[in-house]
Amino acid sequence: MPEDSYSVLSAEEREQLVETAKMLLAMLEEKDPRLRQHCERVANTSANFCEATGLMADDELHYLYLAGLLHDVGLIGTPPAVTEKMSLSPEEVQLMKKHPVTAVRILSLARFEPLLAAVRHHHEAWDGSGYPDGRRGEDIPLEARVLRLFDAFDDLTSTARRPQALPVGEALAAIQERAGVEFDPDLAPRVRTFVESTPGMGEDFMLKKQLDFVKRAFAAILQKFSAGKIQPPAMPQVVFDLRSAIRRQETTVKEVAQILERDPVISLRLISVAKSPVYKGYGEVKSVQAAIPRLGFKETLSIVVAIANKSLYEARQPQYKVALDKMWGHSLATAYAAKLFAQALLRDDPETLFLMGLVHDVGKVILLRAFAESSKEKAIPMEAVWAAVQDSTIPDILVVHLANMLTRKMGYSSFEWDGSDLAELPSARLLGLSSDTIDRVEGKVKEVIKDIAHLFSPAPLWTRGGGGFLFLRCGLTFTAGDVIITTS
Ligand SMILES: [Fe+2]
Ligand SMILES: [Fe+2]
Ligand SMILES: [Fe+2]
Repeated sequence: MPEDSYSVLSAEEREQLVETAKMLLAMLEEKDPRLRQHCERVANTSANFCEATGLMADDELHYLYLAGLLHDVGLIGTPPAVTEKMSLSPEEVQLMKKHPVTAVRILSLARFEPLLAAVRHHHEAWDGSGYPDGRRGEDIPLEARVLRLFDAFDDLTSTARRPQALPVGEALAAIQERAGVEFDPDLAPRVRTFVESTPGMGEDFMLKKQLDFVKRAFAAILQKFSAGKIQPPAMPQVVFDLRSAIRRQETTVKEVAQILERDPVISLRLISVAKSPVYKGYGEVKSVQAAIPRLGFKETLSIVVAIANKSLYEARQPQYKVALDKMWGHSLATAYAAKLFAQALLRDDPETLFLMGLVHDVGKVILLRAFAESSKEKAIPMEAVWAAVQDSTIPDILVVHLANMLTRKMGYSSFEWDGSDLAELPSARLLGLSSDTIDRVEGKVKEVIKDIAHLFSPAPLWTRGGGGFLFLRCGLTFTAGDVIITTS
């Protein structure tokens, strides 16, 4: 690969290049969707092979990947009657043979210079019988020799260009037979070993790289947390005052109201929640003093904690905003589900389980926020970010686990529900909860989320530093009030 390649481009220029490549690929897809799929397979397998075998450095791999995506872009100019045909006339073969040169002409218009050689020579043969220049042996650039092999492998194993695809073993044997004639005799056996020993050989190379990037960024954030360089957010003072007031036997509604009224945002949100159909009752709720008896002390505390917690789920960048909103819905649904399960089990601590449900994923939220604030790479797809966040909670708390799974089933989660029966989950069985109870909780959670999830925001109440909610290691172990929760 040329020295002045990908590494000299800025992150923005790289992004532009990938965007242009995607646009060209979309044009190719318009012409023939199978052609795009072929290009993607050739790009992924070639780049994964060169990475696994250490044939190229990281920057070169990116160019090889792009060259793979665009190697047949010259077919944009070839009539569909020719590209879709299984057998071609000699004139049509000549027409087809023009595509590497056409591709170079198209790619020269953008900043694709470093991959032109790979694209131009991807049909050269080791013995000099290929096209367009009849280059032979190592005069053919390495990346073109690699593309040639995976191009041929894909043509042999897919039905795009032949009525019947060859089984992998037969395709590899056919390639081996042509090693030293058509293919690089040193690379061909290595490709065989790679294909036979790498089940994920066709995995999306770009996504894999982006996932690696996000994971490294997450590790750096966690390290900063451990080193105390990032201060975890702390609950507002009003939450602590409220909690100690509620613990005292003799506390009155008036006293609790006075504490809450110090914070107008919390007060307003609390009134909205108390007015919602979920907490329906007699008379109108116009003040905090009216809201408290409607909810009860413990429920008031749960809701105030949830309101304060909501401000953690704010982000400026639109894609993270959507992601955090989704996590908020998931956390709140888990909280209510945990509480309702606890009530169904006649436990005396439903509020504690509400809190555990609410904060069970808080490590991920903090990680996501820190990443959103620090990441300069705009092109990182949320798919890669979600994959790195992963749901890694260890289900050592059965109720919260079941609540978490219920929210997954209900669609309040970034993770797909696999369709299994919740009552069959070990956590449900150990708790002795029937399908009927779980269904009842599900109906109730649905109602609660529909009516009140939007009433908690916005409330920028978290302050920096301080105790109370102390996140010892983000996503790993943290304490929330009196509760210690360990996630993986
Ligand atoms: Fe080609
Ligand atoms: Fe091809
Ligand atoms: Fe979760």
